[in-house]
Amino acid sequence: MKAVILVGGLGTRLRPLTSTLPKPMLPMLNRPFIEHVLGNLARHGVTSVILSTGYLPAVFADHISRMRDDGLAIELVEEDHPLGTCGAVKNVADRLDDTFMVLNGDILSDLNITHMIDYHRKKQAVATIALTAVEDPTSYGLVPLRNDGRVEMFVEKPSWDEVTTDLINAGTYILEPEVLRAVPAGETYSFERGLFPHLLEDGRPVFGFPSSSYWLDIGTPKKFIQAHQDMLEGKLPIELPGEEIKSRVWAGEGSDIDAEAVLYGPILLGKNCTIKSHAVVIGPTSIGDGCIIEKGARVEGSVLLDGCRLAESAVVKTSIIGKEASIGRKVHVDEVSVLGDRLDIGEDNWLRRGIRVSPDTKIPPGTIKF
Ligand code: GDD
Ligand code: MG
Repeated sequence: MKAVILVGGLGTRLRPLTSTLPKPMLPMLNRPFIEHVLGNLARHGVTSVILSTGYLPAVFADHISRMRDDGLAIELVEEDHPLGTCGAVKNVADRLDDTFMVLNGDILSDLNITHMIDYHRKKQAVATIALTAVEDPTSYGLVPLRNDGRVEMFVEKPSWDEVTTDLINAGTYILEPEVLRAVPAGETYSFERGLFPHLLEDGRPVFGFPSSSYWLDIGTPKKFIQAHQDMLEGKLPIELPGEEIKSRVWAGEGSDIDAEAVLYGPILLGKNCTIKSHAVVIGPTSIGDGCIIEKGARVEGSVLLDGCRLAESAVVKTSIIGKEASIGRKVHVDEVSVLGDRLDIGEDNWLRRGIRVSPDTKIPPGTIKF
């Protein structure tokens, strides 16, 4: 089966990380996120994938050309202007002549695609939407079902007074090519506000496939951290790269951990990292390649991308640090703060409360303190 993965979004809620990388290409456990999505597709026998890009397409092209072969044929399609979720699929309709899948490119899930395809066929649906239950449906597409599993209505980003179920659109669809016929070509059009409501108005067989598989939209800093943590805690069937050097601590080649450093897993350390004496790393934490954690520095529940350096006594807690950032002595970063690539923070600054700092910013010593 063919799958179209939608990867054209700007990833605004994950800035500044997404100023240089599209959301699906952000490192997650030291691999581009999209590889986790492709992994689940390959496990369920999908052989051919179209990546529908728009924002920073060259980043995908560069990576795909270097990716190891896991039996998936990957084709890149570039939009010159955003066509919306459904317009992006209409744009490649000439390559879709059989039942196919569509996936949002920012979902971490081990959805049982094989079962979903069987369900779609059994119900003779023209569209089947994977559903998941969430506590707050207002940031998603609300999908109440009838008793026979048919979709009753589709309400994108409902207000609380419209919420009648906890089931939301999980961002994976099985579709018959015929549904694309009525979609306007070359125009911005979405599944959520266009095609799905339209099919329901016409009384077409649109079914929901509720699933209790792991599911997370990685689109906000909090969820981006959470995705790392859930994978480190073994909530998804993935193998962590590197060697398990002590209980639940995986380290890549060439990493050097001082005997007097303290590490509580689950922790993933990339290649060639240095953890100095009396440094403390508390999991779930993911650290990229070539990071240096100096004496007495502390990292807890965080994500550090490649080449970061934490000077003596710096503290990073529940936050994301971009590539090659330098965090000065006694700096505190906390409360889901997001620091861009190559940032240079002078000593004695306090960055908290979800602060976001653009790449390449230099903050002089003692400037920010809440
Ligand atoms: N090619 C292309 N072109 N891709 C796009 C475009 C576009 O114009 N617009 C968005 N995308 C991609 C994004 O890159 C992302 O992978 C996916 O489509 C969904 O866009 P988001 O911006 O992440 O949407 P959302 O999270 O607010 O809501 C969607 O996902 C929810 C599940 O996480 C909707 O589908 C909701 O109904 C759903 O519940
Ligand atoms: Mg999303």
